Amino acid sequence: MAINKLTITLFLLISFAVFHCLAFRVEVQEFEPPRQEGQEGPGGGSGEGWDEEATKNPYHFGQWSFKNFFQSKDGFVKMLPKFTKRSSTLFRGIENYRFLFQEMEPNTFLVPHHLDADYVFLVVQGKGVIGFVTDTANESFQITKGDVVRVPSSVTHFFANTNGTVPLRLAKIAVPANVPGHFQVFFPAHSGFHQSYFTGFSKDVLTASFNIPEELLGRLIRGPQQQVGQGIIRRVSPEQIKELTEHEHATSPSNKHKDKKDKHKDKDRSTFGSPFNLLAQDAIYSNKFGRYHEAHPKRFSQLQDLDIAVGWVNMTQGSLFLPQYNSETTFVTFVENGCARYEMASPYTFQAEQQQPWFGPGQEEEVEEEMSGQVHKIVSRVCKGEVFILPAGHPFAILSQDENFVAVGFGIHASNSTRTFLAGQDNMLSNINTVATRLSFGLGSKLAEKLFTSQNYSHFAPTTPSHQFPEKPKPSFQSIFNLAGF
Ligand SMILES: *[C@@H]1O[C@H](CO)[C@@H](O)[C@H](O)[C@H]1NC(C)=O
Ligand SMILES: *[C@@H]1O[C@H](CO)[C@@H](O)[C@H](O)[C@H]1NC(C)=O
Ligand SMILES: *[C@@H]1O[C@H](CO)[C@@H](O)[C@H](O)[C@H]1NC(C)=O
Ligand SMILES: *[C@@H]1O[C@H](CO)[C@@H](O)[C@H](O)[C@H]1NC(C)=O
Ligand SMILES: *[C@@H]1O[C@H](CO)[C@@H](O)[C@H](O)[C@H]1NC(C)=O
Repeated sequence: MAINKLTITLFLLISFAVFHCLAFRVEVQEFEPPRQEGQEGPGGGSGEGWDEEATKNPYHFGQWSFKNFFQSKDGFVKMLPKFTKRSSTLFRGIENYRFLFQEMEPNTFLVPHHLDADYVFLVVQGKGVIGFVTDTANESFQITKGDVVRVPSSVTHFFANTNGTVPLRLAKIAVPANVPGHFQVFFPAHSGFHQSYFTGFSKDVLTASFNIPEELLGRLIRGPQQQVGQGIIRRVSPEQIKELTEHEHATSPSNKHKDKKDKHKDKDRSTFGSPFNLLAQDAIYSNKFGRYHEAHPKRFSQLQDLDIAVGWVNMTQGSLFLPQYNSETTFVTFVENGCARYEMASPYTFQAEQQQPWFGPGQEEEVEEEMSGQVHKIVSRVCKGEVFILPAGHPFAILSQDENFVAVGFGIHASNSTRTFLAGQDNMLSNINTVATRLSFGLGSKLAEKLFTSQNYSHFAPTTPSHQFPEKPKPSFQSIFNLAGF
């Protein structure tokens, strides 16, 4: 008898365990567990990203650097690790910022949620809707390529890709509110792997708060049966898409903010910082080789307190975004199309010399200003889906390669930042006075003029094919930097 009971108990226990494992497995299928840093990401084929350049360049994040926060056949949300995990010294200034990328397939919905972080996103491709909900208001906005939207911390919102053919792609920068460099996502409704935040309350509190019988609580906490196992991004019917689109705010943000006056008008109408379209703004630099659009926090109130600028560069094949640097802004830059070689000068010593791939916990050592006088030449080929960092004060240049190169960037600490070009018609060096030029470069004014004013394009310039994939940079190009003491 006793043995029988034990057997039955064991059997029950085992079935229970097996059942739970299965149930659990169903739920986690869509969820990629956090990857160890340096482990290969989903996008990368074997060995991709482990090219020498990437391991030597701490400023370059290949596709393998991303961790999937969520992934299913209907879309994904992925995030770069905290920058200080890559290098605790080089990235301390942007420690509290996180870069994310979100992609939703056509006709999909991302369930309502909030973050304990403010964030700004830019639509890099596609069309959709974002809906905001508070206890006193609800507002939806159509979003389209080039739109910039500020999502305040802890405001519940949802997304829909309302287009039947084109994926909706969003680049995001988050500024956590509670824990520097970390944030969490909160879901009111249970979905797949993610529990409802109501799970955090007792039955007593929930039945009393909602004034409902206990039987209904299951719905609140577990969601409808058929949705167990469904992810946070899910497919929706054309009718539901229609409904989501119809309930949107009367004016589409994409058409707003052609000028400043509009912006103020809209701000009064909207509870949330009105979205605006970056590409509808005049390009701040533009010629036949490239265009650069930028939304500055001084001009767009919704970017002001976060002190973030948003930039968009589109260069024709084989063009050069001339050498330049930002005074205070560090740009976190995402490549949306094509490939480019970017070159950057850094006097900072970093641990690349130790042949350490860039992973493992950040060391908490102090930055030492070793003035070795050496400039490290940081060069990487960056392609679609990758991220590179352009730190304040570091001269850099971008050379577009096989096709149109398109990249978007979030500039951190942007309000008081200025951009200084080092070549082209508007370049800082040509403004150094004659005596100073002679004293520092050892050049007479004739030679200095030739050196600093021969490039008669501004901002974007053409290259000849020989500039395209040189083993070494052109000697003249490098000598300018050597001479200039960079
Ligand atoms: C959202 O707000 C509009 C008015 O702005 C209102 O008509 C509508 O019923 C609200 N929707 C919900 C679900 O509360
Ligand atoms: C989807 O977007 C494409 C490109 O913008 C457009 O041509 C098409 O009409 C859109 N389809 C729908 C259903 O919105
Ligand atoms: C970049 O510019 C080219 C030519 O002006 C245009 O055809 C292309 O669509 C642009 N790319 C993006 C992503 O905006
Ligand atoms: C920008 O500069 C002004 C004046 O120098 C200063 O008051 C302000 O705090 C600065 N803004 C930021 C975000 O650093
Ligand atoms: C630019 O410089 C070239 C020679 O380097 C010259 O032939 C051309 O006329 C110049 N163009 C302008 C607009 O100054």
